[in-house]
Parts: sequence; C-alpha cells; structure tokens
Amino acid sequence: MEGVRKTFPGVVALDHVDFDLRRGEVHVLLGENGAGKSTLIKMLSGAHRPDQGRILVGGEPVRINGAQDAERLGIATIYQEFNLVPELSVAENIFLGRQPRRFGLVDRRRMNADAAGLLARVGVDVAPQTRVGDLGIARLQMVEIAKALSLDARVLIMDEPTAVLTTGEVDKLFGIVRALREDGVGVVFITHHLEEIAALGDRVTVLRDGRSVTQVPADTAEAELVRLMVGRSIEAQYPRQRAAAGDPLLKVTGLTRHGAFTDVGFEVRAGEVVGLAGLVGAGRTEVVRAVFGADSYDSGTVEVLGERLPRGDVNAAMDAGVGLVPEDRKGQGLVLGATVEENLGLVTLGRGTRYGFVDRSAQRHEADRIAGQLKVRMAGLDQQVRTLSGGNQQKLVIGKWLLADSKVLILDEPTRGIDVGAKVEIYQLVNELTASGHAVLMVSSDLPEVLGMSDRVLVMAKGRIAGELDATKATQDAVMALAVTDPAATRPSDRKVEVPRGH
Ligand SMILES: Nc1ncnc2c1ncn2[C@@H]1O[C@H](COP(=O)(O)OP(=O)(O)OP(=O)(O)O)[C@@H](O)[C@H]1O
Ligand SMILES: [Mg+2]
Repeated sequence: MEGVRKTFPGVVALDHVDFDLRRGEVHVLLGENGAGKSTLIKMLSGAHRPDQGRILVGGEPVRINGAQDAERLGIATIYQEFNLVPELSVAENIFLGRQPRRFGLVDRRRMNADAAGLLARVGVDVAPQTRVGDLGIARLQMVEIAKALSLDARVLIMDEPTAVLTTGEVDKLFGIVRALREDGVGVVFITHHLEEIAALGDRVTVLRDGRSVTQVPADTAEAELVRLMVGRSIEAQYPRQRAAAGDPLLKVTGLTRHGAFTDVGFEVRAGEVVGLAGLVGAGRTEVVRAVFGADSYDSGTVEVLGERLPRGDVNAAMDAGVGLVPEDRKGQGLVLGATVEENLGLVTLGRGTRYGFVDRSAQRHEADRIAGQLKVRMAGLDQQVRTLSGGNQQKLVIGKWLLADSKVLILDEPTRGIDVGAKVEIYQLVNELTASGHAVLMVSSDLPEVLGMSDRVLVMAKGRIAGELDATKATQDAVMALAVTDPAATRPSDRKVEVPRGH
C-alpha cells in the first residue's frame, strides 16, 4: 500500500500511509483505538476503497472493489466484528457461497466432513451442524479462523483475533499462524496484547492518528512499542490502589443452575475488586449474568447490602445498585444507531432528572466528561456509535456504567480490545469507584490484569469455584493450575490455596 488516504465525514481515518507485507511473515499493525488499523485492512479486503494512494499485489497495482475481488487475489480476512450468519450451521458458514455440490445439490455430507477437518485443524470442539447462533464468543472466533483457512489464502488478515480467546486457545492459534507462515502465507495481525508481538510477529508497523509513524522489528521492547504508539511512556500498567475492605455489599450463596454452575458462593466488600478467573466455558459469564438478574437460576441466593434480590429481575438488581458491563457489547451493550451522548445516557436517564424532566445539559456535560476521561476518539458527541472504532465502542459501554454510579459494578472482560493507554484510564476509574466505597467484581481472561487489578481472585472451573487466591501474592501459574482442576472431585477444605510471595 502506497500513500493511502481514507476519510469519513468529519474524520481523516488514514493519511499518507505506506504498508507492505512479505510472503512468509507476520506483520503486526499496532495503534491506539481509532488509529486506523481496521480501516487499513478493510481496504485490502474490499470493504473500503482508498480515496488516494495505490494497492499493489505481487508488484501489480490492483483494484479491490469488494469481497470477491479480495478472495480472487487470495486475501482472506477475519474481522474484528464477527461476520457469521447466526441462523446457519457452522459448516454452512464456513462454506457460504462455495458449498461443495453433487448432481447440482449441496453435498451436505462432504461439506460437513470438510468442515470437521478444518475445525479439527484449529482445535475447536464444535460439531459442523451446530447453529452458529448457539456458540459462545470464543468458539465463534475459532469458526471464523476455520473459515479463513478454507480459502487457502496467500494473505491472511486477522483483526484482533486473540481478543476473545483464552491462553490455551491463543497457543493453538499461534501454532496455526506459524504453520501458515512456514507455507509462505503473509499474515497481517492486529492486537492490543503487546506480549503477543514478540511471540508471533516479524515486523511491526505503528499507526498513530491515521499515519504510519514507523516500522520496527517485532522484538522491540514493549515499553518502546507503547511509546511509539501513544507518544508517551506509561509507568504503571496496573495502578491498583488497594485499601482495607469494608462491609459486604454483594453476597452470593449456593448459586446453582443445572448444567451451568453449581454451589457458587462469594462476597464482595466495599472498596474491593474481586477478580473472577477461569477458562472459557468455566461458567463465569453465566454466574455474573445470574447475579445481575439477566438470567435465572435454580437455587441459591443473591444479596445486596443484606437484601435478597428476586431472581431473574434486572430492574430489581439495578434499583439495588448493581451494574453489569456485559461481555458481548455489540449485542447487549450499545444501541449502534444512536449517538455517543444517547448511549452514555441510557442508564442514567431518569436519574438525571430535575423537576421530573431529564436535565439535558447536565447529561451532555456528564457524557462529555466521561468521554474525555476515557479519551473516546470521535468527531463529537453526536457521532453515531456504529461508526466508532471497536475499542472506542467498548469504552462507551464501560463509560455508561461508570456514569450510573452502581454500588456493585460487575465488569465482564472490561478491557477486551482496549489499547494500553486507555486501559490505564479505565483502571483509574475502577480505583475511584473503590476509593469511594463501591465494590467491583471483574471477570477477566487477561491474567496479568486479573492479578494486577484485583485484591482477591476467585478461580472457576467446570461451573464451580475451584479456589481463592490473594491477588498480591498469586502467580499466573497458580491461577491456571486451579482453572484446570475438577472442583467437584476435591474436598472444599482443599480449595484455599496459598502461594508464597515472590513467585
Ligand atoms: N464508517 C465510518 N464512518 C465514520 N467514521 C468511521 C467509519 N469507520 C471508521 N471511522 C473512524 O475512523 C477512525 C479509525 O477507525 P478504525 O476502526 O480504523 O480504528 P482502529 O485502529 O481499528 O481502532 P480499534 O483499536 O478501536 O479497533 C475512527 O476515528 C473511526 O471513528
Ligand atoms: Mg479496529
């Protein structure tokens, strides 16, 4: 790509950008939320056309006017937003528009068998006939990857493929990417996890505010990458300010839903951040959704400040001061067609009333404050949320709940897809919440984050609490060791694991 420029109303997304990809390399695209990474790759996949500049493939200038052009040129893309059809099966999605045929009919048998082969290659345990709408977010991602593999591309573009995966799945993905590189495939890889860059990448192009700032080798020190990306250094990546815990605000006892979670009990006290760690599928999201009333449960109790909450009643939970930043923000967190201001006001609307009317100017002021604090990159408060970058959309969901002033705030994977600089801003806001006596329950698959920002870590495995760790003393290995246990097989007295300091 040479001198590429792309504008949207009110925004120059990319300007004078150069980018090149060799065969058999992993080229990482690095940049803050809104820097233009997704816009750049969308010009290679045919979703956007550049306003200026050229794209060359094998030295020849090309026009990529749509997904078919990209496919013909051997370019496959795994988008940041999932692109699968929920009503169709996994196999149908993988071979959409290219189903194997026999006597003019779709050869379902062969399609399912081929899909099963690809799924085995990415190491995901899903039947080809499963409806995509029934899959969790990590498995959706693995299906996207299987689909890209089926295209046999010479250029593979992956926009934050690891954002929704846990450690084991990331390892599998890296194995696949390394094998493709060996075969001469060129891979464009976007990630906000800096440790992945040296582990997988060959070269890094850093984008800042829509310009290509520099190109460096992938083994460049993380601190230097951060400096190049955000234009300053970041001292403390996990600035948790711990304080003595106060009274229990949230108390969960014996919470059980058959087939999902069993006998889950814990407390979260005022001023505390409690982390909920575990593998994908361990039941963490199911538990926090039940606590919030988004789903029901079979037995057990949820109490806020000693008052029992009715089950399956979100409004009662919110009235009691519980908030939830959901994992699936596209589906549950935002109204994509509404503006930034409207989205930030969704929870607070009704609270910011004066004489019974919504105080619009106060609402706008608050929206402006929180968007500023989280450094949401936008043309203005009136921009449609749909047109914000992925990470900036996520900042809004969190911002919305931070504005709501919940006593107990539940965060499900809060910093997924958020750049390193903005993460620190979110952690600062978490500190402000706990300093003012609120409680935070944080589900996170990011082990450094869960250890760096929590006070205590609960580890779930197979729908049960497998153990509890002191976050200031525990190691990532200790969390993983608990995450792979079968808690139903161990006695409760064995569950509390202490790990010596300094490990
Ligand atoms: N369809 C659109 N209409 C208007 N503005 C857009 C559109 N698509 C992208 N933008 C703007 O272009 C800029 C770059 O967005 P892009 O999605 O490329 O960022 P990104 O680097 O991928 O960020 P993230 O890390 O958050 O995914 C942002 O300011 C975004 O709001
Ligand atoms: Mg993006």
